[in-house]
Amino acid sequence: MALKDDILSELMVNRFISGEELAEKYYVSRNSVWKAVKQLRDEGYEIEAVTNKGYCLKGDINKINAGSIRKKLKSEWSFEILPETDSTNNYAKELAITGKRNKTVVITEKQNGGKGRLGRPFYSPEGNGLYMSVLFRPEINVDSAPLITSFTAVAVAEAVEKLSGQDVNIKWVNDVYMNGKKICGILTEAGFDFEGGTVDYAVIGIGINVLGTDFPDELINIATSIEKETGLKISRNDLAAEVLNNLENMSNGIKDKKYLDIYRKKSNVIGKRIKVTYGSQVFYAEALDINENAALIVKTDNGIKILNSGEVSIKL
Ligand code: BTN
Repeated sequence: MALKDDILSELMVNRFISGEELAEKYYVSRNSVWKAVKQLRDEGYEIEAVTNKGYCLKGDINKINAGSIRKKLKSEWSFEILPETDSTNNYAKELAITGKRNKTVVITEKQNGGKGRLGRPFYSPEGNGLYMSVLFRPEINVDSAPLITSFTAVAVAEAVEKLSGQDVNIKWVNDVYMNGKKICGILTEAGFDFEGGTVDYAVIGIGINVLGTDFPDELINIATSIEKETGLKISRNDLAAEVLNNLENMSNGIKDKKYLDIYRKKSNVIGKRIKVTYGSQVFYAEALDINENAALIVKTDNGIKILNSGEVSIKL
């Protein structure tokens, strides 16, 4: 763990802690402590230095930080925590292209150009959401790539249920819903090795509305947050760790496909009349099931169709 993460963890539990104590505890010089404190200040933490008392963390202690996430992780991950960025997916794709290793996570407090599916924007106000992109180099072939998103939807759904105590649903293909409104969207972008027929990298972008109760007019009827639905201000650091732990065995999970049973159980479209937007076509159908490739099987007036992509809505 980087020294700055250790120091941040100390500041979160101690009212005041001196540079000398920190230096002794972590076997580093006072100058290294000072540099780490400066790094934290550059990242936006308000750290006061008081003579004869030491350092003290002011302001919002619930900011995203790698130290708090790492404490709850089952295995080693690399982190890039950014005060703001256009889109964590764009940032993570750059890292992927420059060869960054498997299990690198980019998280930001605010996105200025958050991206949703089908070229839509993703509302990403400062401090409210968990805006996270996970760079994976999964050992799966190209045909299995579409399963990455559905596996992630289950990982998010189970993490949210565990921390909030509230049931959630999955709207095919990748939205997580609480009480009939969207709390999470997932956007997966991938690079392929065409020669080998394998996935070179996958950047899985996860946007969860965690805190805050105000939404712009155009989203008020369709989106919500965990806080708005449950009154709980759950820690975004804890939620990030829970999601990452659930993503841990992605390659094997995708191969054995057992997670699809949970995906089906949590589906809020199976058995419903739905409106399907598939490319330029719009039609109505009954959603029958989700198959082994996470495709939606629907019954239309013209017979059974299997949808590998597209958008469905339940309100007709
Ligand atoms: C959707 O709802 O259509 C998908 C939304 C995905 C949003 C996340 S937030 C983190 C990552 N960065 C982005 O720009 N998008 C994803």
